[in-house]
Amino acid sequence: MGIPAEEIAQVRAATDIVALIGEQVALRKSGLRWTGLCPFHSEKSPSFSVNAEEGLFYCFGCKKSGDAITFVRESTGMAFIDSVRMLADRAGIELHEDDASGDGKDRTAYLDAVARAVEFYHDRLLNSPDAAGARSYLRSRGYDGDVVRSFQLGWAPDDWDQLAKHLRVPDKILEGAGLGFVNKRGRPQDFLRNRVVFPICDPGGRPIAMGGRILPPAPGAPPPERHEPKYKNSPETSIYSKRRTLYGLNWAKKQIVELSEIIVCEGYTDVIAFFQADMPRAVATCGTALAEEHFKVMRNFAKRIVLAYDGDAAGQSATGRVYEWERSHEVDVAVCALPEGTDPAELAREDPEALRAAVAAAKPFLQFRVDRAIDLADLSTAEGRAKAAEAALQAVAEHPDALVRDQYVMGIADRCHLSPDLVRGRLSAHVAGERSQPERGRGRSRSEEIPPPSEEYLSDDGEEGPALPPGPVDRPGIEALTLCVHRPDLVGDRLEAFLFHDPDQRAAFEALIEFPSLQEAIDSSPSSVASLLRQLAVEEATVDTTIIDDPVSAVLAQLLRSNVRRELAELQAELRRGEIDAAESSRQVSQAQQNLAALDDLAKRTEAERALLGWLEMRGERA
Ligand code: UTP
Ligand code: MN
Repeated sequence: MGIPAEEIAQVRAATDIVALIGEQVALRKSGLRWTGLCPFHSEKSPSFSVNAEEGLFYCFGCKKSGDAITFVRESTGMAFIDSVRMLADRAGIELHEDDASGDGKDRTAYLDAVARAVEFYHDRLLNSPDAAGARSYLRSRGYDGDVVRSFQLGWAPDDWDQLAKHLRVPDKILEGAGLGFVNKRGRPQDFLRNRVVFPICDPGGRPIAMGGRILPPAPGAPPPERHEPKYKNSPETSIYSKRRTLYGLNWAKKQIVELSEIIVCEGYTDVIAFFQADMPRAVATCGTALAEEHFKVMRNFAKRIVLAYDGDAAGQSATGRVYEWERSHEVDVAVCALPEGTDPAELAREDPEALRAAVAAAKPFLQFRVDRAIDLADLSTAEGRAKAAEAALQAVAEHPDALVRDQYVMGIADRCHLSPDLVRGRLSAHVAGERSQPERGRGRSRSEEIPPPSEEYLSDDGEEGPALPPGPVDRPGIEALTLCVHRPDLVGDRLEAFLFHDPDQRAAFEALIEFPSLQEAIDSSPSSVASLLRQLAVEEATVDTTIIDDPVSAVLAQLLRSNVRRELAELQAELRRGEIDAAESSRQVSQAQQNLAALDDLAKRTEAERALLGWLEMRGERA
């Protein structure tokens, strides 16, 4: 028997670990965690700690740790599977246990079912009489046979279960693959019906899901009986993660890599339009917003991301986090200005040359927002120009890098007829306002966690910059340390103290190396370091291993990235101060960037890690 991994994850997520443990232990809130007397060993003062957000517990005394499932196992002696069943019951989650246990087997069956479904629908579109309406609709959109075949478009007939009957797979495969479900009468039913089908593939070209579009009502036809959404997309399944999937990537990959540029648009038809307009490097999210996971996928293929959204949508998408993602994934995000109310699909049909020009003229994300703020204002009056400057500065202030922010001062001053000094002063006020606002969205607060590297030298002319604002947490450092605490066996001696910029983090790292146990490291450290160590103990390693499968390489890559960024900013400052010549600086910059890129390449990773560590060490000694 096996329980699908995603259901186990669901059970974990649905369990309130504080309530669960609270049934057996008196827990008191202490800061971010809950503490109490450990149920697994006898003690007088509480060393048992629960992190509600991460769903984890940890005892500093006996070192028992784990999640809700572990807690049930340890406290009841039940087997893993029974613990999951018990928690599922508690949370009201229905489990779909599988006889042929093993996710691998399910995955293959799902992939196989989706691939056969795509073929079935494609064949219907090409050959079936009931698809005549769909064929003429597609023709009217300018899709010829080549487009239909290239994108494997299909037709889901106006019936209940033609796909299910054709596939003849067990209900749980039909359902698990997102292709159908068991209806109220207990019969398998197709998920898509009466729709044009757009298969969605993984980057390797294997179909994993699909989107279905309704046909527009025929002229003179009665209005539909009930409202149907224009697009219906496969549900999230174990082979289809919406936060990671980009429609079109499998076909667009080739040109994306060649040009190191990827165009992101809103929908299936926009992607196809870019291909028709001779720009086969477009992808789209599938009915969701652009998420960080999408960035992690994209940065493996391209350094430049061009957002091509319908008019107004672009500047507003995920604003706060775009800068953070640019920084942490080493990509540049640009925005392509399309006429308001026009999507790429329309523009490609009406004027493909204009679409190409818009992509070629895409501006950096911040530039786009600044220009937009100013373009919308009335620049003919003094009041209007002041307002325009304020609106533009608002956008600039959100950028975390002072070096970047300052470069927008001149342009805004110029366009709004204001003195640069005045604009710079207002900008500082805006930035201060940004930082002091207590309640920010998660995006913003995270974007401030990584201190801007250029802050130190831009904010003054002398030697010593003012201290960075208090509180920002150096996330790569935390993730690396978390791994040191929980998986010292994996970390070994692959990390170096100088990679930790934050003094407490560095001290914590050194204490972890020096002392054989976490408890001793905590006991021997000054209070700020000890509390960091305690926090690490109840942190779960959140490092993303979807790109780099080895967690140590993943955290090391993050640390190297943030250190290299800091050094590159410093290098620029040295260049400005004339302490290094241009040729040498640009040699070091390009070498470092090449090595950063190689971190994602399994074959070159080790060499790149070594080279970057050496370079950083050399830079550190020079200081
Ligand atoms: P649009 O409404 O802009 O559709 O939605 P479109 O791509 O321009 O399609 P056409 O040209 O009218 O055929 C953009 C994207 O948002 C998602 C789909 O992924 C779509 O491609 N969407 C839209 C849905 O998921 N559901 C909907 O009901 C509508
Ligand atoms: Mn659209």
